[in-house]
Amino acid sequence: TYVVTENCIKCKYTDCVEVCPVDCFHEGPNFLAIDPEECIDCTLCEPECPAEAIFSEDDLPEEQHHFLELNAELAQKWPVITEMKDAPKDAEEWDGKPGKLQYLER
Ligand code: SF4
Ligand code: F3S
Repeated sequence: TYVVTENCIKCKYTDCVEVCPVDCFHEGPNFLAIDPEECIDCTLCEPECPAEAIFSEDDLPEEQHHFLELNAELAQKWPVITEMKDAPKDAEEWDGKPGKLQYLER
């Protein structure tokens, strides 16, 4: 599966959802999650993310490993998103900021 990681939080550009052939992105207030049961590892979303927040599970950096379970959990409770929408106005300011997990809204 592919995994959305910490840098998506508060950036949420949503470019990724447009290319997913199986609609496995789920939208929360300030983060997106991929449903690992639905992802077919097509690789298309990874280069689309301006925040470089998407990784293959095999390339997941060690410190982002908890996002594997987090994606699975949050995809279960959040609705599917298939169309791109405007990013938060301050998305650019948050791009690359460390320690964003504390701001994840469920
Ligand atoms: Fe969707 Fe493909 Fe990305 Fe998986 S790898 S989330 S199937 S676009
Ligand atoms: Fe998040 Fe990147 Fe998609 S910031 S919403 S994973 S395009």
